[in-house]
Amino acid sequence: MYPRLKIDLAKYKHNVESVTALCGAHGISVMAVTKVFCGDQRLVDVLNATDVAYIADSRLDNLERIRTGKPKVLLRLPSVNEIERVVRIADISLNSEWTTLKALDGVAGSLQMKHGVVLMIDIGDLREGIYYKENVMEMVKGIIDLRHLTLSGLGTNLTCFGGIIPEENTLKKLIDVKRMIEATLNVRIPLVSGGNSSHLHLLHKGHHMPDIDNLRIGEALILGRETAFGDPLEGMYQDVVTLEADLIEVKHKPSIPEGEVGMDAFGRKPHFENLGLMKRGILALGRQDVDYQELKPCDEHIRLIGSSSDHIIVDLTHTDADYSVGDRVDFTLTYGSLLRLMTSPYVRKTYVDKV
Ligand SMILES: Cc1ncc(COP(=O)(O)O)c(C=O)c1O
Repeated sequence: MYPRLKIDLAKYKHNVESVTALCGAHGISVMAVTKVFCGDQRLVDVLNATDVAYIADSRLDNLERIRTGKPKVLLRLPSVNEIERVVRIADISLNSEWTTLKALDGVAGSLQMKHGVVLMIDIGDLREGIYYKENVMEMVKGIIDLRHLTLSGLGTNLTCFGGIIPEENTLKKLIDVKRMIEATLNVRIPLVSGGNSSHLHLLHKGHHMPDIDNLRIGEALILGRETAFGDPLEGMYQDVVTLEADLIEVKHKPSIPEGEVGMDAFGRKPHFENLGLMKRGILALGRQDVDYQELKPCDEHIRLIGSSSDHIIVDLTHTDADYSVGDRVDFTLTYGSLLRLMTSPYVRKTYVDKV
């Protein structure tokens, strides 16, 4: 049944092992991030059989379903309205708010549990974390005094929001905070989680930042690329997951609609170029499943024309293959398309495990 995602477990395993080896060579442990594939258990089982140290996800629902013997980490800051679920489901969470930390401590105490905290420091990307120039020390002291929380470490996130590239000058801000805490409070910070897949470009160039001993990696494992510049990582697979869709109509038609043009299904006025008569195909998936502009046809002579909620229209005029109804068209994916397709209940999954 189409559309479906073909997920190659052996290629995923290869990528995971490549990243853990690269990180391991620099003394860095890996939190494998499962959110882009909604915590799919078949992929988690691959992670379970590797050296990744933690399983991390931004959604509690995913973490709750995931079966693993490794510690579970909640990546998105907990909502103060679901603290009990956080403590029950996650071993560790990333945090930046005192109100939330107090609530976590209270609930952990009443459940007679301990909960680990990675305190997030914002070093300029301007998403989560205490801004590094603010009074981090007060918060750290406060966490240490809370009886049911353990300070698992410090963390920072770069690139995802502000597009900031991990560089030595930027990461030094995090390292300075860590060293200041250790010197002032005479404590040891067990873990410094220095970022995500965008950090890997530094390791590839052989630049290891001292004190950083953990990374939270999602995209590099499944798309085989670092995310500071979007470059493929040498020796890794970029096609762990491919999309297979089938043609439900193939016809020769003009390239511009006929009649007065109003709004399309999404309220926009469409514009088309006159390219003469075309061989056009319709694929059985649409905007409800994916943004068509985030798809890359494996047959590079296929052009994507547009999409409505349940249909993607393709131009088959210039391909050598003689596509007809029922034929399959394959695509490689971007992070955005993978995320949407994995989340769509209408897109099936099939698994292969041979390279
Ligand atoms: C806090 C945090 N850390 C790490 C990641 C993983 O990022 P990437 O998929 O670029 O490795 C994400 C996003 O998924 C995140 O939100």
